Amino acid sequence: MRIVPTVAAMQKLARRWKRAGGKIGFVPTMGYLHDGHLSLVREARKRVGKSGVVVVSIYVNPTQFAPTEDLSKYPRDLQRDLKMCRGEGVDVVFTPGDAEIYPGKAEGKYSTYVVEENLGRVMEGAARPVHFRGVTTVVAKLFNIVLPDVSVFGQKDFQQAAIIQRMTRDLNFPVQIIVAPTRREADGLAMSSRNKYLDAEQRAQAVILFHALQAAKTAVAKKFVSAAKLKQDLREFLTAAPLARLDYVEFFDPETLQPVAQVKRGTHMALAVFFGKTRLIDNSQL
Ligand code: PAF
Repeated sequence: MRIVPTVAAMQKLARRWKRAGGKIGFVPTMGYLHDGHLSLVREARKRVGKSGVVVVSIYVNPTQFAPTEDLSKYPRDLQRDLKMCRGEGVDVVFTPGDAEIYPGKAEGKYSTYVVEENLGRVMEGAARPVHFRGVTTVVAKLFNIVLPDVSVFGQKDFQQAAIIQRMTRDLNFPVQIIVAPTRREADGLAMSSRNKYLDAEQRAQAVILFHALQAAKTAVAKKFVSAAKLKQDLREFLTAAPLARLDYVEFFDPETLQPVAQVKRGTHMALAVFFGKTRLIDNSQL
């Protein structure tokens, strides 16, 4: 497994593979890998086959964090991540620093961003105003550096995946985007690097996000329910976890991400819940 820290070396390698006709499968991450990431790596391998190469990037992207969000406290463990990548047969881990990805930024001379102007306005975009601009910018850059044929994203970040798909189409990136299912812990909690921030009591109660999705599924299995009523019911449902503070719950069309007034089987639901300072998200089709 190669560890490549610079843009120039990564681009050179990627071009060489392209010339040799090899397919490149790519999984962008911010590190602190868990089984959810590894399932994306396996999906990438499946798509490119043994003759293809799988690249994982590990880069905690500062532009997708607001100044109020604690970028410096984001969990990191590169040695552990590299070991996990080796175990999965990853070919290359791209580990750039900030000066590689945002040249000139430290001197105030970086000024180009990629903005998706529609799907990013609601839910996570409304709650975290600079977040998706940072995500689309870094993913566009990574596509230009890694030159993937296929890139795999997790369904846990459903809105992110929808925005990346839209950006890829709108900007004509020759990349196939795959969205892989959410991996869950035994009790149903969606795997996330942020779960590490939870103390034992918060962790025990965090499964309420999954249970809320299940409860909504049951509520709409046989009938239409108004979104307002279901939101109210879920607010009450969440009081079973006293440490949980609901940020939002939304019911929306999975294509447009626009909220719907009537919820039925097949409608998509997403929610964000705080446990102390830790904000967890989850989503599902109902
Ligand atoms: O989902 C993530 O971990 C990040 O948003 C991504 C796609 C790696 C961009 O920094």
